[in-house]
Order: sequence, then structure tokens, then C-alpha cells
Amino acid sequence: MTEGRDYCGEVRADQIGQEVQLFGWVNRRRDHGGIIFVDLRDHSGLVQVVVNPEQAELFSLAEQIRTEFVLAVTGQVRARPEGTVNPALPTGEIEVVCAELDILNPSDTPPYQLDDEQVHEDHRLRYRYMELRRPVMQERLRTRARLAAAVRQYLDAQGFLEVETPMLTRATPEGAREYLVPSRTHTGACFALPQSPQLFKQMLMIGGVDRYYQIVRCFRDEDPRQDRQPEFTQIDIETSFLEEAQILDLMEELARTMFEVAEISLPEPFPRLAYAEAMRRFGTDRPDLRISGMEFVDVADLLTEVEFKVFREPANRKGARVAAMRIPGAAGMSLGQIDAYTEAIKPYGAKGLAYIKCNQVGQGRGGLQAGFLKFLHDEAVAGILERTGAQDGDLIVFGADRADIVNAALSFLRERLAQDLGLHEEGWQPLWVVDFPLLEQDPETQRWLAMHHPFTAPAIEDAAQLETDPGAVRARAYDMVINGVEVGGGSIRIHRPEIQQSVFALLGIDAEEARAKFGFLLDALRYGCPPHGGIAFGFDRLVMLLTGAEAIRDVIAFPKTQTANCLLTGAPEMVEMDQLRELGLSRIRKQS
Ligand code: AMO
Ligand code: AMP
Repeated sequence: MTEGRDYCGEVRADQIGQEVQLFGWVNRRRDHGGIIFVDLRDHSGLVQVVVNPEQAELFSLAEQIRTEFVLAVTGQVRARPEGTVNPALPTGEIEVVCAELDILNPSDTPPYQLDDEQVHEDHRLRYRYMELRRPVMQERLRTRARLAAAVRQYLDAQGFLEVETPMLTRATPEGAREYLVPSRTHTGACFALPQSPQLFKQMLMIGGVDRYYQIVRCFRDEDPRQDRQPEFTQIDIETSFLEEAQILDLMEELARTMFEVAEISLPEPFPRLAYAEAMRRFGTDRPDLRISGMEFVDVADLLTEVEFKVFREPANRKGARVAAMRIPGAAGMSLGQIDAYTEAIKPYGAKGLAYIKCNQVGQGRGGLQAGFLKFLHDEAVAGILERTGAQDGDLIVFGADRADIVNAALSFLRERLAQDLGLHEEGWQPLWVVDFPLLEQDPETQRWLAMHHPFTAPAIEDAAQLETDPGAVRARAYDMVINGVEVGGGSIRIHRPEIQQSVFALLGIDAEEARAKFGFLLDALRYGCPPHGGIAFGFDRLVMLLTGAEAIRDVIAFPKTQTANCLLTGAPEMVEMDQLRELGLSRIRKQS
């Protein structure tokens, strides 16, 4: 039936005089002086179909046509009459004169006009199939599929094997809350949906697979954000017997291959930045290197004896940080604007946003403007100007608090200001962040937590410190960051059971608990486990970057909302009592 079929958006002037057969949806129907024009749409684009009144039967059928009706049209391509050419449309030089018309299915009045940008997102999600008809969505789905194909082609060529791993499995401590699936056959017991296939890919290495990959769905019960969904897709990868540098090279090449799909060439090699340096200069482990000239500088040592308490106290406190950041050309910012930015960083714990307006740096104090200037001695002022490299017309902002608060607040501000002031350079800035600490301490409970996950290997040269100074041990972990987005993260894994055991112990998982929860892993490590390591890329985030989409929802065919429900199907739903009883969960009441 579709033999010889043509696509709406692909009809061109070189087909003038030829017959085409089109299938599609009615984008718009217009009546003009007794002639009916139909803009017919499929995933490839739009074409104008003309129905002339001379063909009475066809014409009366065409009069019934409304927006989003599904049509089959056969007709001859002709040049549009002079003055009616539409250069904005790829098919704008031609039109199709309708010879046969079939209404394959009518449509109720659409819930919204597809090209109406004002429609609320909830409404779009409720009618997701309508949304998917929009050209921009079709383009994103296509880019996503082409990217997946390029990934498979590259990894297949490099000798990687795609292996599927279970979706019904058991919980692993990777940081996020898990989705549980109650078991009917084992009352009271639950499966967990995988946060990632981490332990299975390690088992595959022990099983001799050597190079594994999988484009795989992962599940994390956390609140969705712009770049986070409760179910998302990873390109999950693991290798045996490779050095860290070899893994990074292979993965860089994979990233370059993916970006080539969008005709973007990424630099070779990617720069590497140690975690400590990233935190010092940018306050984050995923710095956007497109923002130039806006780095943090530490100024605590200049401020230990100043009268200004906001600075003096943290300057003398362990675990605190006083950082300054120069914002080029922002001295003219109004009080109202500064207040708005101060409010914007409060959710990160910041108590305020001290600032100096640098009107004329050469004039010393006289050329500067700040409420607290009289409470700083001359050396402090001179030191701040020198370290920030402030120029006339710049604004210097300060964060003075617990280091994690200063880092979170000022790194957010750096991104936000760069956005508002147009300070991002064009192009693509990938990098590897390396030398992460193995552990981080919970500021409240003082407990050690795995920075990456508990299966990451400590740096060989630091291993001796595991017992004496755990906080100083570096991990053999690496993150790939592109334009400020963490697109992937991985590590060399622990392949010896005794080291795995001691890392569990540091994390407060004692031998008994480790045996109960991870006995299968500890056993497997004893039967000839090869040295291995890998990475997982956030596939949706990569598609987001490559399509310029603003939210991760825009690159997923059927995404969840900010509160993790599906507006299309109404999931999750209350279930019947009988079903709960069968699962041994009868205490959960169905709410009416
Ligand atoms: P990690 O937890 O860092 O590592 O995840 C890897 C990558 O997956 C993406 N990502 C997400 N994307 C969308 N929504 C989410 N909720 C979400 N969470 C993570 C990010 C991230 O870099 N097993 C390890 C990998 C390994 O060690 O090999 C893991 O899952 O882009
Ligand atoms: P205050 O003395 O609280 O009125 O604050 C004086 C200035 O310092 C104001 O501009 C505040 O926004 C700013 N400020 C207050 N607390 C902090 C802080 N922890 N870090 C940076 N600036 C602050």
C-alpha cells in the first residue's frame, strides 16, 4: 500500500509534473475564493495541497476536512503561481493538485493548536501523542535514534558486546532511593528496580565478557529536575584489563563519535581537571568552561583581622571559605538586581551577597563602592583587587560561610550571571574531572559516604591511608563534563575482596551486613575477578545537549512530571484491594 509513497516535507521543484502519493495530518485548512488549501504534515514537514472547485465530489469531501484529520492524497506536483512562493518552507516552491482524496480518519477538535507556544506543559504531557506530532519533537526523536545507532556502531567496532541485565533485582547502595516491586511468590519480599546495572556489569567482567555495553533504562526514586528523570537511559560500559588512560581514550572517542552525528567536532584530547582544583576555581565538579573570566579566588587570609564580621568570622573558621568572584562589566547593576541575585542564592544556604562595585580601580578606595569598605584595611582591599584582577566597571561578589555553602551558592551564581549577561563563549567545552576523593563526610552525621559508589577503587598510592586518613584517599574515578553538564561518570573498580570489605566497613556496613547484602559480590570477587573499570553516560542528557532542548522531558517520548507521574496514562494509580492482598500488602488502603 505504501509502495511509492512520498513524504510531505520532501516534495521539491524537480518533481514538477510528477504524481505523488502522500499520507499525513491536516496542519491547517484554508478556503480562498472557492479554492481549498490544505497544509498536510507528516514527520518530514509540510506541503500545500490544492483542491479545485471544478472537481465537485472531491471538493465537497475537502470541505469536511478539519485540523488533525488523517488523509491520503494523490496529486500532481506543480509550481506555485508567482507571488505565492513561500521561501520559509522547504516545499515552498511547489504545491500538490489533489486528484484523489481519502479521509482515513477524522479528529475531534484538537486539545490545543500544535504551534501555540503558550500552552501549559501539563496539557502537552496529557496529550503527549499530539505533542509528538510537532516537527521539533520529531527532530529530537530522530537525533536520539541516530545517536543510539552511532553508539552501537562504534562500540560494536571496538569489540564491545551488548548484554541485557535484569530489571527485577536487588537494591544496591548507589545513592538514590529505589523503586520497589513487591513479590507475589515471596510474601513481604521486594525486588528493586536497578539504579544502574553496576553490579551486573562487574559480574559480566568476572564472567569473562571483557568489553560490555548496554543502552539501558535506570530507575531512581528522586525528585525530577530539569536534567533528571526517575527513569532515564544510560549508555553503560565496562571493560577488563584496561588501564584508566585507555578507558578514557576509548570513551573520549565515543563522545566525539556521538557529537559528529550533530556535525560537531569536539577537541582532542579533552582537558583534565583535578576535583580539588575544580572546586577551588569554580565551586563545582561540573564547571562550564565556556564562561571565561569568572573564577573564584580565595581571600580568607586577607580578612582574618578586618572589622567586617561577615568576612572575619568565616576567615578564621575551619571548614569555612571566603571566596571572591569578579563579574566583568557588572558594576552598573542596580540594587534591585543585586537583591534578586541575593534571594536566588538563599536556597543554597547563603546568608547574603556582599559586593564591591569597581568604578575606577586606579583611584583606590575612592573608586570603589561597598557598604563595608570602611571596615576593611588597605591591604585587604588591595589584595582583593589584585587577586580578582578587577578592572574598571567590574563587580566583585563574595561568599563567606561554610565551604560547601559558598561553593554551591557562588557556582550557581556564576552560571546564572553568565546566562543573564551573555558571558558564555560559543562552542563546546568538554573536560574530564579526575582525582575525586573516595569518600565524603556527611556534615551532619559525620559518617563517611562513597563519593561515587562503594565499588570504586582507591588510588593505589593512597590505599595505605584508608585506615589512618580516609578523607585524604583519592578515588580512581572520572566524570565527563560538557558545557557544565555531567554527561558521564565512572571508575576503576575494586577487584579484591579484602579491599571491598574494608571500604564497606568505612561506610559503616559491617561484615555481617555486607555478607547479607553483597555476599554474592564478595563471593564472586574470590573466584578470579579481573581488574576492571567502566563508565555510564546519561544518554538523555547527551540528547538534550545535542538538540539544544531545555529540559530532559523534551527528549524523552513519554516523560514523567516534576512530581514523577505520567499525565498521559495517569500512572501511578491506586490499585484494587484484591491485588494488594495477593501481594501481602493489604494494609495499604485504596483511597476513594
Ligand atoms: P552515575 O550515577 O554517575 O553513575 O550515572 C551516570 C550518568 O547518568 C546520568 N544520570 C541521570 N540522567 C537523568 N536522570 C537521572 N536521574 C540521572 N542520574 C544519573 C548522568 C550521570 O553522569 N553505575 C555508575 C556508573 C559507573 O560507575 O560506571 C552510575 O550509575 O549523566
Ligand atoms: P549585614 O552586615 O548582614 O547587613 O551584611 C552586609 C553585607 O554582607 C550585605 O551585602 C549582605 O548581603 C552580605 N552578607 C551577609 N552574609 C554574607 C555571607 N555569609 N556571605 C557573603 N555576603 C554576606
